[in-house]
Amino acid sequence: MQRIPEEKIDEIRSQADIVDVVGSYVQLKKQGRNYTGLCPFHGEKTPSFSVSPEKQIFHCFGCGKGGNVFSFLMQIDGLSFVESVKKVADMAHIPLDIEISSGDGTPANRPDSQEGKMIEIHQLTSKLYHYLLMETEEGQEALQYLLDRGMSEQELDHFEIGFAPADALTVTTFLKKREVDLPLAVECGLLTERDDGNIVDRFRNRIMFPIKNDRGQMVGFSGRLFNQEDGPKYLNSPETPIFNKRNILYHFSDARQEIRKKEEILLLEGYMDVISGVSADFQNGVASMGTSLTEEHVQMIRRVTNRAIICYDGDRAGIEASFKAGTLLAEQHRLEVFVLQLPNGKDPDDFIRSEGAEKFAEVYAHQRLSWTAFKLQFLRRNRNLQNETDKIAYLGEALVEIGKLDQAVERELYLKQLGSEFELSMEALKQQLQQSVATTVKPKTRDYGGPPPEDFGDYPVYDSGGGPVYEGFHFQQPTQAPSAGLTSEKRLLKYMLEDRDAFIQIRNMMQEQEIDFYHDNYQALYTHLIGFYASGNDANPLALMDQLPNEVSRNLVSELEMMVVNTDVTNEEYQDYIFSLRKAGIERDIKEKEQQLLVASQQGEMALALELARTITTMRADLKRNI
Ligand code: UTP
Ligand code: MN
Repeated sequence: MQRIPEEKIDEIRSQADIVDVVGSYVQLKKQGRNYTGLCPFHGEKTPSFSVSPEKQIFHCFGCGKGGNVFSFLMQIDGLSFVESVKKVADMAHIPLDIEISSGDGTPANRPDSQEGKMIEIHQLTSKLYHYLLMETEEGQEALQYLLDRGMSEQELDHFEIGFAPADALTVTTFLKKREVDLPLAVECGLLTERDDGNIVDRFRNRIMFPIKNDRGQMVGFSGRLFNQEDGPKYLNSPETPIFNKRNILYHFSDARQEIRKKEEILLLEGYMDVISGVSADFQNGVASMGTSLTEEHVQMIRRVTNRAIICYDGDRAGIEASFKAGTLLAEQHRLEVFVLQLPNGKDPDDFIRSEGAEKFAEVYAHQRLSWTAFKLQFLRRNRNLQNETDKIAYLGEALVEIGKLDQAVERELYLKQLGSEFELSMEALKQQLQQSVATTVKPKTRDYGGPPPEDFGDYPVYDSGGGPVYEGFHFQQPTQAPSAGLTSEKRLLKYMLEDRDAFIQIRNMMQEQEIDFYHDNYQALYTHLIGFYASGNDANPLALMDQLPNEVSRNLVSELEMMVVNTDVTNEEYQDYIFSLRKAGIERDIKEKEQQLLVASQQGEMALALELARTITTMRADLKRNI
């Protein structure tokens, strides 16, 4: 493994902004000094994920995950530490002259795991396909087909498009030579096993589109027919441990940054549409793989943006699909949705190639239909509005739609349109609207700001001296007050993390009084902290995070960093916190002894029981001292 000098890591850490990095994965909202959003590490409906620009850390109060900019990328993209440093450097445009060893830097989660190997096989095969398309005689016809469709060599390189030859053994032979585990390649769906037991290529005579997951790891292929019509137009990888169409959006990992920048995602139907979109400078386009939009897709989308622009094919099927996707996004998940309708049944690829990028940009910016406008139009299909019955049915449904709108101005706008089209008075429409609103239930809007749950654990409760306060969250008063012991433990560690002098002071006091932290993870972090300061470091929670050997400790650091405490602390206050720790320890010991006492008296060991009872009395007295 490569080493990056400590100073370089410090430089990168201090120049990068965690808000930018996390912000390209998670939609963040400023709240007080911090940013909050939906945690990308666990499913949640109200945000408990917080990013602090000041401290340069993230922490989720829901699942407890936390860390700095490097650990964020390690966890979300499955990178190694070195890879994450490299990625941050790239994102922040800081030159860093190291090559990541594993091929082209697309990392596997754990390179030795089964999944890591499967990803590697895809990368390897994709390189072969791309080479065959671009450089060989066999690939010539496919290449010509793509060039004729208007693609440039640059685009072919960028999307790593390839060619699978008609010959049944091309990939098989290639992988065998590379000593790849063939049964694993079969499991990837790249090869298939025939009835006679022979292993052969699964994709043959097709143009190959590599498919990446949301972390940018290559997990599948889709192969398109181009010179004959035998079989499905697109053949996709089968479902495998790393590939499931339900949670893949083509181009999502590459589009993410642009989606965040434009604050909207462009939903397209096909790969070719995505590629043409990019050529027209719309890098925020993605496509599902021939399936309708799923719940999983929506979760992926919702994490990065609140606005979706649907631009499906302009034909009947495309309009139906827009309706379905829009309903899911706008009505079930409360995203802001717009629909672009292209004329003459064209798909975005046709449109961009024939009308040009500028025309598409114009439609994109100025001819988008709001979800309500689209729906009002959609409700007309299959209806003859000259017919009285159809007209009344349509008006009824239209009013229901208009009634769902939150804004009075919007309602007014659509009512006016209906009024002028059907020559109805605003009064009549408004009256009708009120009736229809009364009979329909409004969907709930999203609510923000849930309190992070406190861990009460098995900790004895002493007094209810206020629990920890975290920036950016407005706590509902917890039903049970957090224990003073836990709060003390948190505060002590926090002071020690942030100030070397405080560390020395508190450590001395704790050592003198022979006090340990109550919870194992606190004690573990304390131990690391001793090592960290012992090697001459100044207080630096961010750098400490990179040295902690496990996630539990890192999560604890980020949680403590999110706490807001008084920085002006006296030794008496440290002593108070230490007392409450001490009490917590004694209380725990008393409980233990009481348990032993119970057992001893049940078993008739009276001498032992007596001894225990005396100890307990002493401990109780001890507990009362120094209050
Ligand atoms: P289209 O038939 O609209 O293809 O399917 P396209 O994307 O416009 O491609 P070109 O322009 O004909 O080359 C839209 C999407 O549906 C999926 C693919 O993801 C495709 O991009 N699909 C289509 C399949 O998965 N299998 C098929 O047989 C056809
Ligand atoms: Mn097309």
